[in-house]
Amino acid sequence: MRMYDIIMKKRNGGELSREEIRFFIERYTLGEIPEYQASALMMAVYFQKMTQRETFELTMAMAESGDMLDLSGIAGVKVDKHSTGGVGDKTSLALAPLVAACGIPVAKMSGRGLGHTGGTIDKLESFPGFTTSLTTKQFIENVNRVGIAIMGQTADLAPADKKLYALRDVTATVDNLSLIASSIMSKKLAAGADAIVLDVKTGSGAFMKSEEDAFALAREMVRIGRSAGRNTIAVVSDMNQPLGRTVGNALEVREAVETLRGEGPEDFQELVLTLGVQMLLAGGIAKEEKEARDNLEKAIADGAALRKMAEFIEAQGGDPGAVYDTEKLPAAKLVRPIPAPRSGYVKQIACDEVGICSMMLGGGRETKEDEIDLSVGFELRKKVGDRVEKGEPLAILHANDQAKAEEAEKRFVRAYLIGEEEPEPPILIKGVI
Ligand code: URA
Repeated sequence: MRMYDIIMKKRNGGELSREEIRFFIERYTLGEIPEYQASALMMAVYFQKMTQRETFELTMAMAESGDMLDLSGIAGVKVDKHSTGGVGDKTSLALAPLVAACGIPVAKMSGRGLGHTGGTIDKLESFPGFTTSLTTKQFIENVNRVGIAIMGQTADLAPADKKLYALRDVTATVDNLSLIASSIMSKKLAAGADAIVLDVKTGSGAFMKSEEDAFALAREMVRIGRSAGRNTIAVVSDMNQPLGRTVGNALEVREAVETLRGEGPEDFQELVLTLGVQMLLAGGIAKEEKEARDNLEKAIADGAALRKMAEFIEAQGGDPGAVYDTEKLPAAKLVRPIPAPRSGYVKQIACDEVGICSMMLGGGRETKEDEIDLSVGFELRKKVGDRVEKGEPLAILHANDQAKAEEAEKRFVRAYLIGEEEPEPPILIKGVI
């Protein structure tokens, strides 16, 4: 078999066989296929697309390119959750302890921020002392003892995807449905859970800008998961504006804590409950939606979810006191309102722009080596549909550097579109597949 023939077959619109896909993935992971041939194949896939069978074979080949985590040492149905990435998306921070408090064993591998979207691992590091560098043995022990553990993705998890994703990122071949679906699902399958609940984001802050594309991606990932024998469910949710009211690592942790106290913003709480219901159903903890929702609401009301979060933070070296007193989380020096430039209704918020503004303050990485400033970000006081008067705060800015604050504030104001007419309220949950 020759890589040249595989590239030409795809370039001419042919369907690659299992053997051809495996040949490419295995040799590319070993460094035997050069980057320029892999780039050519990715571009051919981008234009000619992949069939469902090819997409499945690519996913399995990438999943099996490294370690497949064995979670059989943990009793119960392990349910994983994954978001395709968004702005202000702190869902896992609240959802993981919440479902763990309801009896779902949570063994989760998470990533760091990517581009303008944040990552769970970075956010969790807002808890002083917290670490996600666990060995697989510690990870499994923690889940058995505490009911929940979150660790960073190991280098041996789907290494083919790691290499290919970095290549796609610099060759304009990220936004292809088959390539995104196989990239995400290869990592989820290798991470070993029995069931997977996906939160597929759509809108200006998401990879999938249109609802149609988001639904197609959701359907493709559900198909892959089920073909691989894992119960897979996808929720398609809105990312046309930041989720909840905070953007920035420690600010988002604070909001997740408030949500577990029952004091979170309505949209964020609704998404957490919607995903939580699917996780409890998939894990066999509840038989129907109402029962699942009641369980989740009870765990919030009686403090079990908050206690579980404190236990989890402590088990991974963090200060559990910060769960009960969020003043202990990193705080910025400059905290000031961003006034609205005019009166009217908030019609749109360019969500990706808000993510970029947070990065400009130091809340995200421009390069892989950058250190993150955990304390910076925004508290949104106005969201889509809200009435605002000129001079009223659109948001509260948290920064540590005057020059960066000024630059980010200017860009933040431009992300808001304020008009005369009251817009239709946005729909948060677009559908469940
Ligand atoms: N997230 C991933 O892990 N892979 C993609 O291709 C896109 C988003």
